[in-house]
Amino acid sequence: MSRPLAVICLAAGLGKRTKVSMPKVLLPLCGRTLAASALAAVVPLQPERTIVVLHHQKDVVQASLQTAVGSTLRELRFVDQGAPKGTGHAVQVAMAALGTFVGDVLVIYGDCPLITTDTLRELRALRTGGVPCAVLTAYPEDTTGLGRILRDDDGRFVGIREERDCSDDERAIDEINAGFYCFDSESLRAALRGLQPNNNQGEYYLTDAVAHFARQGSEVPTLEAADPTEIQGVNSLVDLANARVVMQERILLQHLQNGVLIADPGSTWIDQGVQIGADSRILPCTVIGTGCVIGRNCEVGPFAHLRGGTVLEDGAEIGNFVEAKKTVMGAGAKAKHLTYLGDATIGSRSNIGAGTITANYDGAHKHPTTIGDGCFVGSGTVLVAPTTMANGSMTGAGAIVKRGSALGENEVWVGVPARRLKLREPAPKRGGHA
Ligand code: UD1
Ligand code: CA
Repeated sequence: MSRPLAVICLAAGLGKRTKVSMPKVLLPLCGRTLAASALAAVVPLQPERTIVVLHHQKDVVQASLQTAVGSTLRELRFVDQGAPKGTGHAVQVAMAALGTFVGDVLVIYGDCPLITTDTLRELRALRTGGVPCAVLTAYPEDTTGLGRILRDDDGRFVGIREERDCSDDERAIDEINAGFYCFDSESLRAALRGLQPNNNQGEYYLTDAVAHFARQGSEVPTLEAADPTEIQGVNSLVDLANARVVMQERILLQHLQNGVLIADPGSTWIDQGVQIGADSRILPCTVIGTGCVIGRNCEVGPFAHLRGGTVLEDGAEIGNFVEAKKTVMGAGAKAKHLTYLGDATIGSRSNIGAGTITANYDGAHKHPTTIGDGCFVGSGTVLVAPTTMANGSMTGAGAIVKRGSALGENEVWVGVPARRLKLREPAPKRGGHA
């Protein structure tokens, strides 16, 4: 049995350097917030407990994280740090919330969203064997603003110095602190008790707790991040833009490796948490939002926008200038041109004509549209939701189908407002003409 694992995610900082009013950890990165991205990396490690330390706009941050990762993490809890007094103070507050927990404590920063599960797993493995702590380090091209790793002449770890506290020589060190640590809970508790705010910012630094172990003669093993992009933190909107590029590249690469044909990766945006089956083709200038599920052999784009909750079953096609939101397209169904599908369920092999709109919003509420199998929606149809079309039904070009309409099987509705087209009675026989 491996030791129990607790995760502490620090997310109480204000994020002054972003200059935006939104809490920094809620900035969006390919469909997930920064903090949710960081937490997503710990989910496969199955921690017994996860504590998120919050303060600034804590209600919004908590609600957002609860929705994003609440169902994937056992015992997710939020604690208020009060006025943030540094990363060490934040961990003190989290440890108090962990009570008598004994095991490994993985500390991650909510503003470092590019970390991977593999790296965290390796970091944890490095701590086993009696050392109090293992630290993740990296050699990024740009070390600006980061804590430097201090080593003695034999190369042994001795401490971490924040850039603003560095001498000129120390600032020249190219190995930096990534902001991820795995601690033994008991050693961490002891080290936190001794923290002092004697630095340029007057804060309690978690990094001083790590230095404490080295001072006591313990070995502090370090793991160098194999890929320095993993440790890129986000302190400004420039950092966010750079992080997005890295995350997007990773996502596209993964789909390409899974057999998804992405015609132009440079113009394709696919969020985190999208599933796409092999043999599907994603054409240029397409945006696919988090939570979309695309089957095998589908085609999307060019210039298509699939938003959250959209499902394409095998062989479905979404073409130019089509937006779909929370819409299910059955197997082989097609919407190829200039269409909005919102809250719609479309059966297999149905064809949605050019310019179709599901008018799903009445100004107060969203309503569903249900279209059966083998239906044909004529060009320029507006389906005012809620509306249902039974299997095999059709609308004529330009039909405006009023709210609450229900087209029966194989019926044809036309006009404004749309009415059922009555099949013409056979012409009455009049005698004597022939
Ligand atoms: C921190 C590290 C630095 C490292 C860098 C990596 C410290 C003292 N410094 O610096 O060595 O190179 O990360 O990205 O740890 N937070 C709280 N409560 C607080 C203060 C911060 O929850 O009182 C949270 C922030 O919201 C943020 C994270 O902790 O998510 C890191 O804080 P930040 O101020 O960004 O630290 P850096 O200056 O980046
Ligand atoms: Ca930071």
